[in-house]
Amino acid sequence: METPRDPIASRYEHAAHGLRRRDLDPDPIKQFSNWFTAAIEAEIRDVNATSLATAGHDGKPTVRIVLLKGFDSDGFVFFTNYESEKGVQLEANPYAALAFYWIELDRQIRISGKAEKTSREESERYFRSRPVGSQLGAWASRQSEVLDGRRVLDARMAEMTERYGDKPIPLPPHWGGYRVKPDVMEFWQGRPNRLHDRFRYRLQSDGSWLIERLAP
Ligand SMILES: Cc1cc2nc3c(=O)[nH]c(=O)nc-3n(C[C@H](O)[C@H](O)[C@H](O)COP(=O)(O)O)c2cc1C
Repeated sequence: METPRDPIASRYEHAAHGLRRRDLDPDPIKQFSNWFTAAIEAEIRDVNATSLATAGHDGKPTVRIVLLKGFDSDGFVFFTNYESEKGVQLEANPYAALAFYWIELDRQIRISGKAEKTSREESERYFRSRPVGSQLGAWASRQSEVLDGRRVLDARMAEMTERYGDKPIPLPPHWGGYRVKPDVMEFWQGRPNRLHDRFRYRLQSDGSWLIERLAP
């Protein structure tokens, strides 16, 4: 049996080696997958937590944490309430950015691109996999609306629990996923003396990725 890696030791190991051009996969999604796997192996808590930045019509950015629930060559998926502040902003302006930070590995990954709603089938599949309490919660909470008090939320939760009882809970129309399809991704590896390694991938018009090293 493999022993789990000591995340602190990994941090120094990675910092010492740094990130070299020749270590990068030409495909940034595969590069993400390699780092994500290493982060899971290092047993990083909330490894899939990512900052999500959005800006609506007014151009003022807002940021919050969401959980990455999947990724593939089409992009990075999270689930939320489409009527929340982020949902309203993404409706007005679909461009979004994500930032992962895995402190124990001294690594950051930045992703930006256009967010598209996932299909209802995909949202439904994920919704079904959630605990019943979370499914009811998606009905009960009008995410990002002002609440007069906790009791309003508790009363709505009680109402939904009564409404659905043991019946299957339908996917709320206001709830589902977004997939951020990247056009820029950056991999950052912390190094001693702040001379960190940074590599940026930029999607080209022919579908290939241009990789450039950036000054730290
Ligand atoms: C660790 C963590 C994970 C979270 N995951 C999600 C998530 O997957 N989806 C979501 O809608 N909100 C998630 N939240 C709550 C959001 O940060 C935020 O409070 C909420 O989505 C409302 O954001 P908005 O008003 O900007 O739309 C999470 C918060 C934390 C701290």
